[in-house]
Amino acid sequence: MTTTRLTEEEQCMLRGDHGEAVQFAMETIVRMARGFGAEELVEIVSVHAMAMYGDLHDAGLELLEWLHRLGGRCRVPTTQDPASISFAHWQRMGVPADYADKQLRLAHLVEALGEQPLWSCTPYQANNVPAFGQNVAWAESSAVSFANSVLGARTNRTPAGLAICAALTGRMPKVGLYRSENRVARVKVVVDAGELSALDYHTLGILLGKRVGTTIPALAGIPSGVSRDDLKSLGAAAAASGAVALYHVIDVTPEACRADPFGGQPPSGEFRVRREDLEATARELQTASPGCVDLVVAGCPHYSLAEVRRLAGLLRGRRVAPGKALWVYTSAEVERQATAEGLLATLEAGGAEVLAQTCAVMSPLPKRFQTLMTDSGKYASYLPSEHGVEVVYGGIDACVRAVTELCGRTGA
Ligand code: F3S
Repeated sequence: MTTTRLTEEEQCMLRGDHGEAVQFAMETIVRMARGFGAEELVEIVSVHAMAMYGDLHDAGLELLEWLHRLGGRCRVPTTQDPASISFAHWQRMGVPADYADKQLRLAHLVEALGEQPLWSCTPYQANNVPAFGQNVAWAESSAVSFANSVLGARTNRTPAGLAICAALTGRMPKVGLYRSENRVARVKVVVDAGELSALDYHTLGILLGKRVGTTIPALAGIPSGVSRDDLKSLGAAAAASGAVALYHVIDVTPEACRADPFGGQPPSGEFRVRREDLEATARELQTASPGCVDLVVAGCPHYSLAEVRRLAGLLRGRRVAPGKALWVYTSAEVERQATAEGLLATLEAGGAEVLAQTCAVMSPLPKRFQTLMTDSGKYASYLPSEHGVEVVYGGIDACVRAVTELCGRTGA
């Protein structure tokens, strides 16, 4: 087994000089480092962890309670993914009280451990924004993709149990995407599908993940003015349908602007994405025919302010039809900004519900909703298996049409 070199400080943590919680966390990190052949650890500048009850269950709750009893405290700034309930609306949304109670205990615990209560999958749209080249330990796959690809920071897809150990020690094994030689692209993807809509970026991401799996792709043909929201959608979808933790976009993303994304070697594979490929992928995401939908869910990953603005513009002067619902997921910060701009009032006047700090996949869904529609490739991938519902996939303009018209008159 590899010997992992430890600094003086890391040896102190391992000996227990910083308390039992840090010692346990460092033992776990070192064991992982040895198992993966890491010769040393890296210092990380932030953690994005998981604390949703729907994912951690009782075992995760007990682990965090135990670490807290041992005096654990985050050594680096740490945020966390959405919660499994809307803290503001869980009672009205029919969430069982014992389930909510466990999520509320988790919320209390992570704050006691020193985490910043963000509860969003887009920490980079708030106060957890690593700089180019910095090492972080993030758990949420869409955020991992954004950090690596769009910000040029470095992180692997960190498991939830390891993320809390990283938070307590500020260290991770130096393996995978922390190493420069593992960040080069192997596959070239030429996007030749004409002008791309917001939905097309989700669809392209789904197609990409299915085709490349875990291989790092470099994309050509993406316009240089592509928005960060579109890159966010692309990365989230590719991480959901495959396990893409890093993609490059030639002449757009920071590592591909600074150097040859293929590291001076010819790519080992290449494929082209045409309009008909996107259309076929979009069709495959649907489990129901476009028609009558009960609920539209938007905001996966969490909507930015620009995306909330767009939705408010589409909903202005319209209203969610009786018996239907429109739920919009975002961060508390974007909700605050949307309130200040009057956008929240517009959405609520149209019958939409803004659910900050939670997520449709990670929270219980009332049984009355059987057919959902979404503008998110990641939601479309996960919702049928997570909640046993049918899914219609379409752009946010089609979603608004479907949810504001009575059944029998909709066309997605
Ligand atoms: Fe975020 Fe939930 Fe989607 S965590 S990326 S809104 S599945």
